[in-house]
Amino acid sequence: MAYDLAQFIADCRLSLARDPGPAGREEVRVNLERLLQNQDFIRQYCGDDQPRGLKLLYEDPALGFQVLAHINDKARASPPHDHGASWAIYGQATKYTDMTEWQREDDGSDARHARLKPVKKYRLNPGQAGIYQDGAIHSIDYPDYARFVRVTGTNLDKIDRIKIDPATGAVEQMSAQQAT
Ligand SMILES: [Fe+2]
Repeated sequence: MAYDLAQFIADCRLSLARDPGPAGREEVRVNLERLLQNQDFIRQYCGDDQPRGLKLLYEDPALGFQVLAHINDKARASPPHDHGASWAIYGQATKYTDMTEWQREDDGSDARHARLKPVKKYRLNPGQAGIYQDGAIHSIDYPDYARFVRVTGTNLDKIDRIKIDPATGAVEQMSAQQAT
């Protein structure tokens, strides 16, 4: 039987209950890649008949992690941003996402300005998942019809996060969870 959403969620709970740190999260990342091999899952949750936008597939009542499907029609490039005190795993379902990981070169003492340098750039193709640990800064750039499944350590709407204008270094607080 193909690896499905229910099995993935059960495995996430086991992994993160056993180890909520990087080792447990890495198991989640590997299992997300496994789930994304399942074409029935892709059709059912990321297919063209799905409503557009962000869909919550699961939220764990005990551990707090979320599984979200991002059903996009339009290309988008995000500014560099973090996920606050949470981690996030991005798994590509259709098309691709170009990822840039950024490093902060200042000491973080100025809440309104940051100096960033890009340190890693790569493409996530269908079936591939990348992990962004607490406080890591990344930006995403995807074409029309790129869809992805994201697992976050907690509901990002409930925590403080920042986005940074790479040209000016201006830091802004983020509130909505939309597609970041
Ligand atoms: Fe993000």
